[in-house]
Amino acid sequence: MVWLDIIYHPVWAVTTVLMFLVVRMQRRGSWDPQSCSVRLKGKTAIVTGANTGIGKFIALDFARRGARVILACRNEARGTAALKEIREKTGNYDLHLRLVDVSSLESVREFAEGILEEEKALHILVNNAGVSGLPREMTKDGFEASFATNLLGPFLLTNLLLDLLKRSAPARIVTLSSCNHKRGEVDFAHFHGENLTYRMDAVYNHTKLHNIICTNELARRLEGTGVTANSVHPGIVMTDVLRHYHFMVRWIFRLVGFFFFKSSEEGAVSSIFCAVAEEMEGITGKYCDSDCHLVLPAPLARDTALAVKDFEICKRLTSKL
Ligand SMILES: NC(=O)c1ccc[n+]([C@@H]2O[C@H](COP(=O)([O-])OP(=O)(O)OC[C@H]3O[C@@H](n4cnc5c(N)ncnc54)[C@H](OP(=O)(O)O)[C@@H]3O)[C@@H](O)[C@H]2O)c1
Repeated sequence: MVWLDIIYHPVWAVTTVLMFLVVRMQRRGSWDPQSCSVRLKGKTAIVTGANTGIGKFIALDFARRGARVILACRNEARGTAALKEIREKTGNYDLHLRLVDVSSLESVREFAEGILEEEKALHILVNNAGVSGLPREMTKDGFEASFATNLLGPFLLTNLLLDLLKRSAPARIVTLSSCNHKRGEVDFAHFHGENLTYRMDAVYNHTKLHNIICTNELARRLEGTGVTANSVHPGIVMTDVLRHYHFMVRWIFRLVGFFFFKSSEEGAVSSIFCAVAEEMEGITGKYCDSDCHLVLPAPLARDTALAVKDFEICKRLTSKL
């Protein structure tokens, strides 16, 4: 058949392979963690959600650099499996699993208390744990579950660890946001599950906008302390982040992702860049894209008056519980 001859023509085959290679090279980004010689011996890092996806590769990189790494995970079995894997791959046995459910303020407080008791210093905190596509659900603290997981829990965790970070300065806080923040909106009633539409990633987008707003305000409040705070977009990354979506959505994501999206290892690069690269020394209150370029986030994320208000509301909501 003529159309089969066209499809199987060698020119098409070669073009397809070339396109695939070009896309793969573009996926790699401009900064290579392996060519960065920064060592983290004597440094302590916490990575939340380190048992899978992007977080696991961030923790793996820190372990390779010799850091004492705390994997902050919610599930003991999954956390232990990641711990074993990273130990085997890096030969670093100074890795520790600590359990935390970042959607629960009580769990976050217990985790932070443990860290403050056990750790003499903390140089890197990566707020990586996150969810997308959760159905409407309220936590026992009375917050909408995606907001509790992506924003309020990490907000409280960061604030509880701030004094330790300051005492350990120079120290860096990295929070995983997303380019999807550009489609997010700010409405403080969202925190309590009001005015939300549960369509695809709509709720997630709002939470990721708040991540940048609060990180920028935190950076402003930390000026002069030697602790920096930046947010990152990891890229579109082939992880289990869509686990709560319809299987058709996941299937299409996997299919398209095979060609165009980053692997978890590639998705970890911009976070590692912000956490360890010499180029990022003293840089704070910035938003880093998946190619490790500092770029401007959406206008709402740059509104300083809104940032003060957002930060104060998050502080009030998380401190009274
Ligand atoms: N993948 C992407 O394309 C993409 C794009 C932009 C931004 N991001 C951001 O990157 C971060 C990592 O995502 P990923 O793609 O690696 O997703 P993932 O594979 O789904 O991993 C998410 C991690 O967060 C943990 N987690 C979720 N809820 C938690 C909770 N309540 N308490 C403690 N840990 C919790 C998960 O633990 P369990 O394994 O126990 O569930 C898992 O370790 C997220 O903040 C996400 O928003 C991802």
